[in-house]
Amino acid sequence: MGALLRCLLLILFVGVVAVPRAMAGGRLSTNYYRHSCPRVEQIVADVVAAKQRVNPSTAAGTLRLFFHDCFVGGCDASVLVSPLTADRFPERAAEINLSLPGDSFDVVARAKAALEVACPSAVSCADILALAARDLVGILGGPRFPVSLGRRDARRSDARDVEGNLPLTNMSARAMTVLFARKGFTPQELVALAGAHTVGFSHCGEFAHRLYNFKTADGYDPSLDPTFARALQSSCANYKNDPTISIFNDIMTPGKFDELYFKNLPRGLGLLASDAALWEYPVTRVFVQRYADNQTAFFDDFARVMQKLGTVGVKTGRQGVVRRHCDVLN
Ligand code: HEM
Ligand SMILES: *[C@@H]1O[C@H](CO)[C@@H](O)[C@H](O)[C@H]1NC(C)=O
Ligand SMILES: *[C@@H]1O[C@H](CO)[C@@H](O)[C@H](O)[C@H]1NC(C)=O
Ligand SMILES: *[C@@H]1O[C@H](CO)[C@@H](O)[C@H](O)[C@H]1NC(C)=O
Repeated sequence: MGALLRCLLLILFVGVVAVPRAMAGGRLSTNYYRHSCPRVEQIVADVVAAKQRVNPSTAAGTLRLFFHDCFVGGCDASVLVSPLTADRFPERAAEINLSLPGDSFDVVARAKAALEVACPSAVSCADILALAARDLVGILGGPRFPVSLGRRDARRSDARDVEGNLPLTNMSARAMTVLFARKGFTPQELVALAGAHTVGFSHCGEFAHRLYNFKTADGYDPSLDPTFARALQSSCANYKNDPTISIFNDIMTPGKFDELYFKNLPRGLGLLASDAALWEYPVTRVFVQRYADNQTAFFDDFARVMQKLGTVGVKTGRQGVVRRHCDVLN
């Protein structure tokens, strides 16, 4: 009897503790704003499409911004806090070297401004970023997918949180799988997400070590296609004086969201060492091959993993706030 009672108490106790935890991530839903802001998706879509028409580099930058937001402390818009408005160094201060593009912050700010007119103080910046990234993938020809909503915005953003939470181009593929596993992603999901490099560009400084003074007769990384390597050597020749020189991540179809990124890798046409590494490492190579052979498989998986990315470390209820301005902490 005593044992049964203890057992029941234990179940009750576990129940009380476990339920709110389970709900923390489970409260996102696609119709979260049905009462507070029923037109949220259309308003974001309109702003995003207009911005992308004016500046076509918005899409890739915003997709990357979403990834960085979610991987450092969860999808909570902490990456959006401007160093100019914060009294401490926010995440973005540590990301200067990662050169997050201004247009991706601007598109979120514009959507936020439109939403504050239509439904004041209702929609979080974290949700806007998730919707914008989804919409822009679609505009570039990628898969469309539903976005669950209800994320709350962070109350803090600290540059010191960035280190160790984002992949670097000098990481081995194995090290990348370890980092992604820590965030809850399998090697296959890592490869699917890395397919985002089918769009956008990288600054020469991110891959120059593959081009100059490499320890081979030709001076460049032998895993690069020779013609590609020589073209990069010449395009980036002046990068130290002009650090803004950039090269498309997918040289075949740079502005199109497709599977060409994966087709490039076995041919030595991957731009970053981290891209090439996904082909060299057997664990990830199988998925590179699968996506190179089958765009449908890539799109299906990318759509699914983007939805999963959007749930990483989300704050709901009183864990966060709806910020009034996306670049300022309330
Ligand atoms: C797997 C490890 C990854 C590494 C090492 C990596 C690293 C980088 C680097 C160094 C750049 C160039 C930045 C610049 O020079 O401006 C870049 C660009 C980009 N990354 Fe990644 N990344 C990774 C994964 C991802 C993921 C998972 C996504 C999104 C789901 C993503 C989306 C992008 C996009 C869209 C760009 C182009 C940005 C633009 O054109 O403004 N990356 N990445
Ligand atoms: C950027 O990189 C340079 C050298 O690579 C380093 O000295 C500097 O501290 C970095 N800046 C930030 C804000 O991390
Ligand atoms: C990669 O580069 C960073 C600096 O940019 C350095 O701190 C880190 O140790 C390097 N990692 C590896 C695996 O070489
Ligand atoms: C491509 O992938 C899709 C989705 O996984 C699958 O249904 C289809 O059979 C694959 N096609 C080929 C030719 O393997």
